[in-house]
Amino acid sequence: MGWRGILGLEYGVVQGPLGPDISGPELVAAVSNAGGLGLLRAPDWESPDHVRELIRKTRTLTNKPFGVGVVLAFPHKENLKAILDEKVAFLQLSWGECPEELVLEAHRAGVKVVPQVGSLEEAEKAAHVGVDAIIVQGLEAGGHVLGQAGLVSLLPAVVDLVGGKDIPVIAAGGIADERGYVAALALGAQGVCLGTRFVATEESYAHPAYKRKLVELGKTEYTDVFGRARWPGAPQRVLKIPFFMDWRTLPNHENETNQPVIGRTTIHGMEKEIRRFAGTVPNVTTTGDIESMAMYAGQGVGLINEILPAGEVIRRLVEGAQLLIHQQFSAEKS
Ligand SMILES: Cc1cc2nc3c(=O)[nH]c(=O)nc-3n(C[C@H](O)[C@H](O)[C@H](O)COP(=O)(O)O)c2cc1C
Repeated sequence: MGWRGILGLEYGVVQGPLGPDISGPELVAAVSNAGGLGLLRAPDWESPDHVRELIRKTRTLTNKPFGVGVVLAFPHKENLKAILDEKVAFLQLSWGECPEELVLEAHRAGVKVVPQVGSLEEAEKAAHVGVDAIIVQGLEAGGHVLGQAGLVSLLPAVVDLVGGKDIPVIAAGGIADERGYVAALALGAQGVCLGTRFVATEESYAHPAYKRKLVELGKTEYTDVFGRARWPGAPQRVLKIPFFMDWRTLPNHENETNQPVIGRTTIHGMEKEIRRFAGTVPNVTTTGDIESMAMYAGQGVGLINEILPAGEVIRRLVEGAQLLIHQQFSAEKS
């Protein structure tokens, strides 16, 4: 029964790292305390002291395993060093190749390495360097989208590729309830990674207006309207809020650099201005025109009807999956 834990965790439920700082210590601890894997998100700039602070704060809230996500497209060397020094249980990587030396170094520190990939090629490279598990992100996913394929085709292909190597495969993209969980298991995954569902929890650091929109609205679009200058070549899946619908055909030469400032925010302790079309989702500190800011969401957003405690999300996923498997798919059913 695939709902059982992987990688020494109680359950196969992973909370994707939520940039820039939406998955803070409170959310991560709540997820790990409930038997899932909570993942902090390292800053997009070198800030090893802040990374240590995040890890230490999380440790005051949980004694269960948790990890940190690093986006390799941004400066990260010092942050990585802090993560390995602190010997967190997991290092999640995305948007860059995972070098073998890093995997070896992490293993020496007792840290398991779990990259997120968006294609078969990326999965093959990750498996080759000896990672501990692979998160496969489908086109359905909220946030920045790595690849072009949907989970129904990509996931079993990755499972076939790495299955013999004893590397658990974790499905990410559009999964918001127990039905998505069981479907992922049927496709060969051993676990699921949810992002949007965890943004809409009590413990997430997202702005209340963003959480509310995730409950109210149900449609998303794959776009590159946000953050073109700061992070080119990284398309996103966003919620179809009215602001986005007004600007979704933004001409290619436009980007956030010459746009008006629409708000202010503090991210990982740094004060920042938010310009129109910036890729920064609003967190609890954000002020200004919140409804004109990027709001990332996966295709499963229409299945999110309420803001829940993160532990309750995990309980419903696990118990729901167990029940569904028993009622619909077990041999004893009839
Ligand atoms: C607000 C938000 C921020 C995200 N930030 C990151 C990130 O920093 N690093 C990363 O690897 N994935 C990030 N993701 C993607 C998740 O890891 C995961 O692939 C995705 O959320 C799964 O799809 P779902 O949102 O439909 O559950 C983010 C997703 C969202 C919604």
